[in-house]
Amino acid sequence: MFTCRAVHSVTGFCSCRSDYLGSLLCLSCPPSGSFAYLTIKDRLPQILTKAIDTLHRHKSEFFEKHGEKGMEAEKKAISLLSKLRNESQTDKPIIPFVEKFADTDIWNQYLEYQQSLLNDTDEKPRWFYSPWLFVECYAYRRIHEAVIQSPPIDDFDVFKEAKEQNFFESLESITALCIHLQELMTTIEDLEENQLKNEFFKLLQISLWGNKCDLSLSGGETSSQKTNIINTLEDLKPFILVNDMEHLWSLLSNCKKTREKVSVTRVDIVLDNSGFELVTDLVLADFLLFSNLATEIHFYGKMIPWFVSDTTIHDFNWVIEQVKHCDHKWVSKCGVDWENYVKMGKWVYHDHIFWTGPHEFCAMFHVAPDLYAELQKAHLILFKGDLNYRKLTGDRKWEFTVPFHRALNGFHPAPLCSIRTLKAEIQVGLRPGQGEQLTASEPNWLTTGKYGIFQFDGPL
Ligand code: F6P
Ligand code: MG
Repeated sequence: MFTCRAVHSVTGFCSCRSDYLGSLLCLSCPPSGSFAYLTIKDRLPQILTKAIDTLHRHKSEFFEKHGEKGMEAEKKAISLLSKLRNESQTDKPIIPFVEKFADTDIWNQYLEYQQSLLNDTDEKPRWFYSPWLFVECYAYRRIHEAVIQSPPIDDFDVFKEAKEQNFFESLESITALCIHLQELMTTIEDLEENQLKNEFFKLLQISLWGNKCDLSLSGGETSSQKTNIINTLEDLKPFILVNDMEHLWSLLSNCKKTREKVSVTRVDIVLDNSGFELVTDLVLADFLLFSNLATEIHFYGKMIPWFVSDTTIHDFNWVIEQVKHCDHKWVSKCGVDWENYVKMGKWVYHDHIFWTGPHEFCAMFHVAPDLYAELQKAHLILFKGDLNYRKLTGDRKWEFTVPFHRALNGFHPAPLCSIRTLKAEIQVGLRPGQGEQLTASEPNWLTTGKYGIFQFDGPL
């Protein structure tokens, strides 16, 4: 049983409701020094300052494009972001959204719900006395609000430059990966079943470690893949704490064997970061098609800039375009193939506002039934990254040995697998003693991104 020590000044309770097992990760429990607390206290102001600086540096571009109006808009966006930075740093009440956008009502209703947890007092939820997942998502939604309140620069992505830099800095590793894929494509017919499985496992692991490259953990600082990742896989194996890759293989190879009966095998990938990680996901998706383990891949990205490096449709198209225009002919061939898959409908990209909302995934069935129904069409769903894991498990302080199935709390649209490097103080489904042992030898094992998991849920 976990007990929160952050007693709310008015209600006597903390909104994390930590009087039951699996309570929410709260910013105020323990009051300071937790990873959650530091992401808001230190990392968020750093990210906001970088966003402000980016707007500043684009001043002349805004002027060239929109004249005086562009300059005024830049000033407005900067002042709104500075206000946001001040609100968060001084623990002000969390305020409703004002600008009309697709999810404004959903967000404001959620804010009312947070308020209702404070037992109908006039006290407002505040930055440092609220559940972490909610506050962090709220911060990114507010960054977006600052931009859309500043036309004509309201389509400016303050994180675009950082995402592009991540791609360019990882170019060597991207090149090696694309060449590897093309070589594999030419030999695929000659591979025995076991060899094919090994290649599948290799690409899964590349996609896992690609998740180290997110830009929110680094406070927006560059975090790219500078070495050839393929050569490091063996050394990284001991750091995979939950390894359900065999389940993925049996599921997809069985689908392939029964393909005459069911003509389609659909794998859905809920994307995370753009740049290097996105390339690893596209390489995996390409392999799934040409190995015949899947016949259709559906991708889900974010509708607004999110957690610095998350993939939007713009990033998705931009990465494919960059790969297509690479000098190396085999790398460029990957880009051409990927563009064709999209044109032919073998790759389908979906947007949904739910992914940038405040809700954990167990609420999807009620909050976004259309998205839930879409996911139900998949034979397998891969959830990339840490934030998706937090939303899958409700960002709760689960015991390490709680089964993944239970932590999903009724979210079972289709067989699913989380592919994630650990960057938040949450992990379920470990062997008895495994978590405690790691804590004793490496106190920060949950948050450095050094460890990873393939955690599967579904019928075996
Ligand atoms: O800001 C910290 C955090 O929320 C962590 O959970 C994680 O480090 C990061 O943001 C997002 O990681 P990912 O890109 O893997 O979802
Ligand atoms: Mg991310």
